[in-house]
Amino acid sequence: MMNFDVLTIFPEMFDPFWAHGIIRRAIEHKKIFTSTVNIRDYARDRHQVTDDRPYGGGSGMVMKPEPLAGAIRAATRRTPTAVTVLLTPQGRPFDQNMAKELASFDGLVLICGRYEGVDERICHDLIDYEISIGDYVLTGGELAAMIIVEAVTRLIPGTLGGENAAENDSFSNGLLEHAHYTRPRIFEGREVPEVLLSGHHQEIERWRLESSLMRTLLKRSDLLHQKSLNRQEIEILDKWRRKINNIIELHHKKDAE
Ligand code: ADE
Repeated sequence: MMNFDVLTIFPEMFDPFWAHGIIRRAIEHKKIFTSTVNIRDYARDRHQVTDDRPYGGGSGMVMKPEPLAGAIRAATRRTPTAVTVLLTPQGRPFDQNMAKELASFDGLVLICGRYEGVDERICHDLIDYEISIGDYVLTGGELAAMIIVEAVTRLIPGTLGGENAAENDSFSNGLLEHAHYTRPRIFEGREVPEVLLSGHHQEIERWRLESSLMRTLLKRSDLLHQKSLNRQEIEILDKWRRKINNIIELHHKKDAE
């Protein structure tokens, strides 16, 4: 059971998010529990203000510490073992490994920053993780929080249709996923690779690994630098290296003639 508490000044943004697809199914099957907390509810003043001008001057507004602290403390009282996550472009870059790390906790309190930033004293005392979903700037952490909820939820056993569908995903083994095909067998003149129709399980697995490796090499060769390769993977890369070498040698020979 994973508990997601989202703290935001726009809780309505999450209503459609909780209501669709695997998130909805995970809630219905009690694999995850979700709550959206309006930070404004923890503002004490009459107008329930959550932002203020920055000390030292300058443009933009800063999220006040008191409402945020109140909302975070209330959430961690409900789930004392939860870790607190601030979404910010200054955080650690989010990736599949971090999704796995977060999936190992039984509660995440996701704090959506808004305006130009949150008061620094919040970060010091109440935040376990600062996470960025990429090197670009959003107006707030809401979309980032949804991305984290989705990436973490699909790692929880029983949330995906297939038995172990997440294990075959791109990045889960350091490679991009293999190519996929469905009916019809011929679409606009392009055929499905023969081996996939053969019913030969072992050959299909080998073809998929090869597809996976070549796609990773062509689209994201940086991933191959980080990954430790097993013998079969090296064998496949070596086969392609020999193919490419043969082509090059043939050209050299032609040039020499
Ligand atoms: N808030 C604004 N930009 C963000 C980003 N890139 N990642 C996470 N939270 C953000």
